[in-house]
Amino acid sequence: MARDIEARLDDREYVRPPVEFVGQANCTDRSVHDRFEEEWPDAYETYADLLDWDRRWETVLDDSDPPFYEWFVGGRLNASRNCVDRHLDDRGDQAALVWEGEDGSRRTVTYRDLYRRVNATAAALRDLGVDRDDVVTVHLPMVPALPVTMLACARIGAVHSVVFAGFSASALADRLDDADSDVLVTVDGYYRRGEFLDHKAKVDAAVAEAGTDVRDVVVFERHGSAVHEPGAAPADANADADAKERVDPDDLTERDVLAADLLAERERREVDPVSRDAEDPLFLMYTSGTTGQPKGCQHRTGGYLAYAAATTKYVLDVTPADTYWCAADIGWITGHSYIVYGPLALGTTSVMYEGAPDHPHRGRVWEIAERHDVDVFHTSPTAVRQFMKWGEQHLAEYDFDVRHLTTVGEPIQPEAWRWYHEHVGGGDAVVVDTWWQTETGGHLITNLPALDDMKPGSAGRPCPGIGAAVYDDDGDPVPERSDRAGNLVIERPWPGMLQTVYGDDERFVEEYWRRFSDLDSDDPADWVYETGDGAVHESDGYFRVLGRLDDVMNVAGHRLGTMELESAVCEADGVAEAAVVARQDDQKGEAPDAYVTLRDGVDPSESVRKGVVAAVESAIGPFARPANVYFVDELPKTRSGKIMRRLLADVSNGAELGNTTTLHDPSVPERIREQVGD
Ligand code: WTA
Repeated sequence: MARDIEARLDDREYVRPPVEFVGQANCTDRSVHDRFEEEWPDAYETYADLLDWDRRWETVLDDSDPPFYEWFVGGRLNASRNCVDRHLDDRGDQAALVWEGEDGSRRTVTYRDLYRRVNATAAALRDLGVDRDDVVTVHLPMVPALPVTMLACARIGAVHSVVFAGFSASALADRLDDADSDVLVTVDGYYRRGEFLDHKAKVDAAVAEAGTDVRDVVVFERHGSAVHEPGAAPADANADADAKERVDPDDLTERDVLAADLLAERERREVDPVSRDAEDPLFLMYTSGTTGQPKGCQHRTGGYLAYAAATTKYVLDVTPADTYWCAADIGWITGHSYIVYGPLALGTTSVMYEGAPDHPHRGRVWEIAERHDVDVFHTSPTAVRQFMKWGEQHLAEYDFDVRHLTTVGEPIQPEAWRWYHEHVGGGDAVVVDTWWQTETGGHLITNLPALDDMKPGSAGRPCPGIGAAVYDDDGDPVPERSDRAGNLVIERPWPGMLQTVYGDDERFVEEYWRRFSDLDSDDPADWVYETGDGAVHESDGYFRVLGRLDDVMNVAGHRLGTMELESAVCEADGVAEAAVVARQDDQKGEAPDAYVTLRDGVDPSESVRKGVVAAVESAIGPFARPANVYFVDELPKTRSGKIMRRLLADVSNGAELGNTTTLHDPSVPERIREQVGD
């Protein structure tokens, strides 16, 4: 990806935000960056002031025990009250969520509806015995029950751990175990490209596989248009000719309980929001790293919500009057911060779409944008490349007028940027490239859209108060604005940062701080956060992010660890050893290539190849499927036996082979190249 982009950056120009945009923007204060520098960290109080607090904080930042920073110390608040209750007086009848099912069903959930549903769900969870700080695992696709369940957990002080619906049973079981979570919320099934996927069967397999004893499984039902509305009117259910039957009672185990039954009994129940300490955890989000199992990034209540709300307001430029659509999945951090918490904290209308962007036709996304009069649209470069490939003719018949477009998840190539600007933005929308991570809770590098000119291919300037910098491999800072590539680091804490890795403070220090910090120091100036990304600080002060430098790849915006992929491949029958590397892919950004050696007596065959693919699907999920499986006689290894993945990546990408002198047998990569025939 980095190489690819490099080649196309020469002709980049600056694009001015249109005057109309600037005239209405939420942040037009040119002194904002200076103010945050001068008043750091107290300037972040303006972020916290976007929320309603039960008790105001005493100290903005306690940095006495780095890297275990505490934000808004002494403050108390509830995230569900901030996203729901506080909007009832002013906009109870305004849509909070506008939901589109793939099968054509639709739901508008007003703030008042949301209030009722969150309360009923909170009451149900509490009656099941969920207590504050318990972890509730939520394995739901893009249905309204997902944000409702998240907010219901927040209401009773439980910690949610949402596991993306595309993950396999094994991946779900791992996450249940790591969080020691005994309540799971899920759905019978959902639509994807016209097919009704049986989600419940996968959940049953996960529960059977998990070491943790899952006590309760709450099952929503997604049948036809009666989208698990508590006590949905029968007329509604019948409105859809495709309405599914309810879950067959024979398919329920003794731990299953139907959400519809729980909620019908609690329709009018109200549950007081539990006042949480600002530092109490709000949620876990598992993400891939360079080693071992995915880690549970633990996010705090006060700092996270303040940061998500403020960046939604100032970067995404959302107001309550807007209809805002972030076409991500809530199962990833983008959906947490920028479909649920940020937009709802601000009282805006957030659109959710269940299905595939090309079902039943390639204009589906624009049809939805037109129907709901979307003002602000948010997607990934992968999706933009896909739309570009399908062609602008699919937009032609739809009439919508967005003023603001966002991208997230990968670097965006200038061509894709321009296509997005011209064809989706009509040439007069701002395009905001936002760099951040699961760990950072919200945007860290991106332009404030009314203040800085856009530059296709660059994420832009650090957000107010963010200490972004580039360090060399020895841990020394590369001079600012030097146009030299290096490791992207963050030199100061920020309110949205993860608190720790769930249950593993040591791993938190290892993964994010060891490399660039002085671990013996208690001076926060000696603690520097490692992002794992490479970047260039350009002479104009913008950051151009190049992609991951570590063993993490970014496949269509999904973050996957090389180690996880390799251990999955090694589960397949006949496999002796495996190395997985990233192939540059025009559509997906990166795609995994698996290089496999087979056990003695096993010959390469289609069935072994299928076994490898199936092993990855079973350990992680179909979205992680390798693009290619290459059977080779030997993997390139150093004399000490370390696999040199870098050389395999050169083979996959048709690049000149890097240095092979440290290899035990320097001829191996060349032989592999011949063998794979690239
Ligand atoms: C990559 C997603 C370039 C980066 C919010 C990061 C980006 C990883 C951008 C985090 C961007 C995210 N430009 N690269 N605008 N945004 N990335 O945790 O490699 O799923 O480290 O969070 O995505 O992925 P994650």
